[in-house]
Amino acid sequence: MKQIKIFDTTLRDGEQSPGCSMNSKEKLEMAKQLDKLGIDVMEAGFAASSPGDFNSVKEIAEAMKDCTVASLARAVAGDIDKAGEAVKGAVSPRIHTFIATSPIHMKYKLLMEPDAVVEAAVGAVKRAKKFVSDVEFSAEDATRSDTDFLARIIDAVIKAGATTINLPDTVGYAAPDEYYNFLMEVRKKCPALDDVVLSVHCHNDLGLAVANSLAAVKAGAGQMECTINGIGERAGNAALEEIVMALKTRKDIFDADTNITTTEIMRTSKMLTRITGVKVQPNKAIVGENAFAHEAGIHQDGMLKNKATYEIISPESIGITEKNLVLGKHSGRAALKARIEELGYNISDEELNVAFKKFKDIADKKKKVYDSDIEAIVTKETVKIPKVYELFRFVSNSGNTITTTTAVCLKKNGKEIERIGTGDGPIDAAFDAMGKIVGKELNIEDYRLQSITQGGDALGDATVILSDPEFEGRKKPRVQGRGLSTDVIEASLTAYVNAVNKLIYEENQNKPAAAAEQN
Ligand code: KIV
Ligand code: ZN
Repeated sequence: MKQIKIFDTTLRDGEQSPGCSMNSKEKLEMAKQLDKLGIDVMEAGFAASSPGDFNSVKEIAEAMKDCTVASLARAVAGDIDKAGEAVKGAVSPRIHTFIATSPIHMKYKLLMEPDAVVEAAVGAVKRAKKFVSDVEFSAEDATRSDTDFLARIIDAVIKAGATTINLPDTVGYAAPDEYYNFLMEVRKKCPALDDVVLSVHCHNDLGLAVANSLAAVKAGAGQMECTINGIGERAGNAALEEIVMALKTRKDIFDADTNITTTEIMRTSKMLTRITGVKVQPNKAIVGENAFAHEAGIHQDGMLKNKATYEIISPESIGITEKNLVLGKHSGRAALKARIEELGYNISDEELNVAFKKFKDIADKKKKVYDSDIEAIVTKETVKIPKVYELFRFVSNSGNTITTTTAVCLKKNGKEIERIGTGDGPIDAAFDAMGKIVGKELNIEDYRLQSITQGGDALGDATVILSDPEFEGRKKPRVQGRGLSTDVIEASLTAYVNAVNKLIYEENQNKPAAAAEQN
């Protein structure tokens, strides 16, 4: 049976999708989970894109024990050098360099003749080889490129030392049979491809990313590039969990498998959702809320008689546990710690202290604390950002016949600051007060409020996404803050405060070079 390498690009292509940006601490937390999931290659970022990205790739490269860590780099010297520098601390470092090969990209985007593109690609691979032995070359927009030209450039970069060749469907244009035929044709025209790893990277613009990736397995691909929950540019990338479970479930037709520990899939998917605040659609294959829900009477009847009637994969195989142990206000630290560990988290004593305090606050307000409440507490407390601002107290006065006011008092580095905001409802007024305290107009790009469990006393889970229109660094941070409370105003304010703290942290990481030097 063929072993397919899983190349995860959640932290690079995935992070490029709107609303999915992560700070370096969140990326590290995600990277550790991806390593635990068993991916073979992790694309940790695009080191040359900003100082923050460089540091994050470097930090991840130094922390990973098992998987290969790659940085993306355009086929230009500066990018290759930054990528080489960032991944050099990895146990198994890789540079992933790319250049577009389709006529439309070469003519309009690169403004380069095909000969110059080949020269740049070869130069990039040779330069990358000075840093690492493991070099991947991607022919961007390969599926809209001329196959004779592809064979020429691939042959040249393999001679220059490339060890993996990726032929992406960058714009999600291909159909499965067509992609299969395309790969077979390029292999025929370029026999050297058989001596390196053939990789595929499919986008989902026509909803065919996973189907195309699977067609590529039959065409001899040995590496699949994909992301958790299918996040990525535009309509996203091929979803890791779907590729992996399709290969596992249909070994009979694909005759291939991966090194993924499938019981970690659900946890990884949920972690990404919590970090980015971007939920997966309920009917999403494998990790959607309804993926294992059987609603119709006939289906339920069949399931009771024999699960195989309607279930082709078991929930347990992706890490969904039936057990939903309920804790309450009388549960102690040991019970909380045991449950956290059963849910698959390792937390330090210090983190347990914080989580336990939060747990007690919640247990005082609601009768039952469920696994999802606990997971929310743990994730929230494991990502630590310096707390410049802290929510101290608030009072809201609202009604349908008065102007709503919310007085908010924050502590900034220990000192109290109080302002009164007005608005259309208590949360709008609270955010108005927050803007006055922080002293600048921040853009609220998104605000979401949802309940974590059922019932009137459910935990409210608020997400606020902020950006700073005045920030002048190269990469403008767009940060997400979460807040949990049984009181929705408190949850929303906490989310806002967390987002502001992250914004301060991110802006410091991504300061324009001159300003960074001055500080
Ligand atoms: O979609 C694409 O072509 C890419 C390349 C950089 C591999 O993301
Ligand atoms: Zn891509």
